[in-house]
Formats: sequence, structure tokens, C-alpha cells
Amino acid sequence: MAHDRAVGIHDLSFATTEFVLAHTVLAEHNGTDIDKYHHGIGQRSMSVPAADEDIVTMAATAAAPIVERHGSDGIRTVLFATESSIDQAKSAGIYVHTLLGLHSATRVVELKQACYGATAALQFAIGLVRRDPAQRVLVIAADVSKYELDSPGEATQGAAAVAMLVGADPALVRIEEPSGVFTADVMDFWRPNYREAALVDGQESIGAYLLAVQGSWKDYTEQGGRALDDFAAFCYHQPFTKMAYKAHRQLLNHCGHGVDEDRVSRDLALTTAYNNVIGNSYTASVYLALAALLDQADDLTDRAIGFLSYGSGSVAEFFAGTAVPGYRDHLRTKAHREAIDRRTPVDHARYRGLHEFSFPADGGDHRTPAETTGPFRLAALRDHKRVYETR
Ligand code: CAA
Repeated sequence: MAHDRAVGIHDLSFATTEFVLAHTVLAEHNGTDIDKYHHGIGQRSMSVPAADEDIVTMAATAAAPIVERHGSDGIRTVLFATESSIDQAKSAGIYVHTLLGLHSATRVVELKQACYGATAALQFAIGLVRRDPAQRVLVIAADVSKYELDSPGEATQGAAAVAMLVGADPALVRIEEPSGVFTADVMDFWRPNYREAALVDGQESIGAYLLAVQGSWKDYTEQGGRALDDFAAFCYHQPFTKMAYKAHRQLLNHCGHGVDEDRVSRDLALTTAYNNVIGNSYTASVYLALAALLDQADDLTDRAIGFLSYGSGSVAEFFAGTAVPGYRDHLRTKAHREAIDRRTPVDHARYRGLHEFSFPADGGDHRTPAETTGPFRLAALRDHKRVYETR
């Protein structure tokens, strides 16, 4: 169904962690050829959370500038997408709601389907705005990606939060219909409730992702979507940035285009700049790709951007957005660069210590070490409750 009124992303802001580990440090520790990291998987560094950071502190840090710029009037819904949930019942979004001082007349809910969750949130938000164009929805994607030490996945860890304000007449990107969707029941990556680190079958996960690219594109075209040549760029979920290249080659082949590497590079190069220094931020990653594209492209006004969101397990969605006239006046390029540049590099021993840090689960009173210099921190655990504070 065609709609007259544009709905989409009105503002976008991201945050990442206090610390960063360079892949050169990891390579030196485990004897890996650095070219495998820099070129084989396309990663240069990974964001590492401090002991007093988590998805809530990153999410609040990402969303605070949005609330500061637009106020909270009109925000009646907060959708928090994550697969690194901090509670089995309560939405992480409620903590963010408090930290940002949002109105009590708000619905808040958490969504999960691996790295796809934020795209579900975005689409649900669009539906809510279509029902009442006066409303705005705060969509937050926040994740900490954690694999076992010394496992193949270790080099693809990372952490970040992206906050997006979704509304009518958006200032950045209009989201179009239709969407192409795809679900297949695969065990490529999962995290049972009793584990902190994910379990993954790396090669199977790459295959499952590529199948999902084909499946969601097929549905997208059957639903009457745009032709491949319409798109100026493609934002893929980037568990590691080379995955976007694998996926795009798969799409070009599937569409019978053959693989022209200049074209692949033109379609993707600007989308990897944040993910290759942040690492996998799971459900935030595809929207970090969008941030990198918008922040760096000369001018995408009225150009179509393709989005491929993939969440292991698996669900995928292909959809299109269009950069709206004047979008460059609303970008947060400087703040985004600062979020990356402000991180403090850690050595390997410190990184391992942070990786292995976990809170006692005894319900006692445990203060967290004060490590982060960000605006929000996880100050303590008390009576099984997380206690956050604002600086
Ligand atoms: N110089 C240059 N390139 C090198 C190299 C060197 N010295 N050594 C190896 N490489 C290349 C390899 O050829 C390979 O490239 P291709 O895939 O293009 O052939 C690449 O570096 C990686 O090498 P390996 O496959 O040998 O690496 P690995 O066995 O250590 O595992 C991985 C790689 C499977 C991605 C692993 O990091 C992993 O399990 N990651 C977590 C799972 C994941 O990210 N899956 C992605 C799809 S699932 C998803 O998207 C959801 C999600 O967020 C998890």
C-alpha cells in the first residue's frame, strides 16, 4: 500500500565503550598474521566495555543527544532491541526511560531476534507512526558481542548502541515499502540463558547469512521492490566488515550481475568505517553502517539505500530507504567521530581481565569499579537490582 506521508529516521546517534583493543595487540598475543584481521575479516579494533558499562549505559548515552535536540514530547514508545539482555523480565528500556527522564505516558518494550531485533523495532515503529503521525518512537539498538577467549569469534567482538528517532516527515531517511523477509530455523549462533558468551558455528553462520540474503531479496522483488541498479549504496549487517562484501557478491551473483569489484567497493566502502573499528555490535551494526554512510558520503539526497538486516537463528529483511533533501544538516558526524576517538586503548592483560569480569550472582551489595568516564554508569548491584547513576 502506498502512503502519501513519509515516515522514517528523523535523527540517529550512536555511542560505544570506554575502552578499545587494537587487533594488532590480539594478533601479537595469539600469533595470528595481522593481515587475517585487517584484510581477511576486515577489522582493525574492537570496543571493550568497562566493568561499569553495559547496554543500558551505552543506550542512554546514544539517546541523550536525541532527547536534548528534540525534547521528549511526542515520544510515547521506546523500543529497545538487544540480544545481550540484562534481565529475563524487565526491559532494559525502562532504565533508559528513567535515565533520560521520559514521560510516564510511554510504552517501553524489549525485542530480541539476534542481530535482526533493531530492524523489527524500526518496522514496528513505522507502523505506530503511520497509525498516529503526531507520535515519535525512540528505537534503540544496543549490544555487547562476546565470544570465548581464544575462539575464532574472539576477533569479531565489539559493543555499541544506536538510537534512532522514528517519525513522520523524517529529517534523515525515509523508509520505503515493501520489505522482503526471510526466516529459516538454523543453529548458526545462539546463547543459552546460562551462558555469557555466544555459541557459534562460524562457517555455518556465514552460509546461513548468505542464504538469507538470497531469500530476503527474492521476497523483496516478489513484493514489487526496486531494481538492484536503483541503489546508491547497501548497508549490510556487519559481524565483521568483510561479511558485507561476501553478502553483496552473493546478491550480485544471484541477480545475474556478475561480480564487478569496483562496483562492490562503490556500493559498500563508506558503510564499513565505524564497524571496522568498533567490531560487531550485533543488532546495532546495520545502523552503524548507515551512520558511516551518511556521515561520509558527498551527497545522497533522493538516492536509494538498501538495507540487509540479518539475525542468526535466523531472520532477515531487505528494505530500502531514501536520503531526504537537507539530511546533511542533521547529521552528528563530529560526535560520532568523538565517540570512537575518545576510547582508551587497553593492553591484552587488561582486555582479558575485562572479558572475564562478572558480578557475583548472590544478591549481595556489589559496587562496580568506577572505570567509565561517560555520562551514565552502572554503579552497583544491590538486592539483585542494577543501580545506575548519571554524572
Ligand atoms: N591474510 C589475509 N587473509 C587471511 C589470512 C592472512 N594471513 N589468513 C586468513 N585470511 C582470510 C581467510 O581466507 C578468510 O577469508 P575468506 O572467508 O574470504 O576466505 C578470512 O581471513 C577468515 O579466515 P578463516 O575463515 O580461516 O577464519 P576463522 O576460522 O578464524 O573464523 C569467522 C572466521 C568464522 C568469521 C569467526 O571469526 C567467527 O566464528 N565469527 C563469529 C561468527 C560470525 O561473525 N558469523 C558471521 C555470520 S553470522 C552473523 O552475521 C550474526 C552475528 O552477528 C554473529
